[in-house]
Amino acid sequence: MTHTNFSARLIDWQLQHGRHDLPWQNSRDPYRIWLSEIMLQQTQVATVIPYYLRFLARFPDVAALAAAPREDVMGLWSGLGYYARARNLHRAACEVMEKHGGRFPKSAQVLAELPGIGRSTAAAIAVFAGNERAAILDGNVKRVLCRFFGIEGFPGERAVEERLWTLAEALLPERPESIGIYIQAQMDLGATVCTRARPVCEHCPLAGECAARISGRVAELPARRAKKTPPRRMSRVAVVIFGRKVLLERRPPAGIWGGLLAFPEIPAESDIQTWAARHFGIDIGARELPPLTHSFTHFTLEIAPWRIDLPAAPHALAEPAWQWLEREHIATAALPAPVRKILAQLPEQD
Ligand code: ADE
Repeated sequence: MTHTNFSARLIDWQLQHGRHDLPWQNSRDPYRIWLSEIMLQQTQVATVIPYYLRFLARFPDVAALAAAPREDVMGLWSGLGYYARARNLHRAACEVMEKHGGRFPKSAQVLAELPGIGRSTAAAIAVFAGNERAAILDGNVKRVLCRFFGIEGFPGERAVEERLWTLAEALLPERPESIGIYIQAQMDLGATVCTRARPVCEHCPLAGECAARISGRVAELPARRAKKTPPRRMSRVAVVIFGRKVLLERRPPAGIWGGLLAFPEIPAESDIQTWAARHFGIDIGARELPPLTHSFTHFTLEIAPWRIDLPAAPHALAEPAWQWLEREHIATAALPAPVRKILAQLPEQD
């Protein structure tokens, strides 16, 4: 498909199926358009509409917004989320009063210098307010382009994003009077047809030549952010044995292994020998057992078990959460998997 066809199809689709009566459409007032674009960041149209109308009724122009106390602005924003947007909105209004004599800028380049306005938002405002020939690249547009052109890689990655910007600019229609419809088409297609989870390809004007559709990879594109490897935590634990008994600690009800029985942990700053002497009142050796790795959702735990054999029964246990478990009762005790594994590796006859 040629670039001209890409934009032509989107424009035709927009005229027939796109949204035309949203409260911020059919206005060239950059203040109103700016306000809508900021509210629409990360937020759906249906949620934005009542906020937008209330906000405009209270602050009909940039002078009214700049003159308002910050708390009033935050109050009208409350419930919309991402509150940095509201703080930046107020700062930007003040800046327009101070640096631009109260006239809201219309060019993408100048707009992008105001707080809270990134490259894509600046372009959207400049397009809708003055037909400037500028490309947008929000999450919706990234998704459409990644699918249509079969672009691999996470779109938040710098190299992928640069490639997408280049494409987005190359695809812009030539005629200035088409640019607004085309940009609105990109937004509407991404929001209503080429959605992330449930795309409706049967209704898509680009489906015939969409690389993702043709190769059956719509669900895989755009690629998700590469998973970070979870942080590793180390834990030294004491496997204290006396006769046929093993020492365990009842974990607090909240947190990992809540309420289960596990080995006492030797604090990282403690020397094992010193720890054992403090808790059992004797100077005693410890032997390292084979280490174990256990994966939790948000981290990986590396467990280093140290075996301590008590030669005599201690008078009392040093910690209230400690208790002895007969080795015969291991099978039925409430033990986390790694604890069970370490116990299973102890030789039966000692
Ligand atoms: N999302 C961001 N900007 C939008 C707009 N102008 N119309 C509809 N959805 C949008």
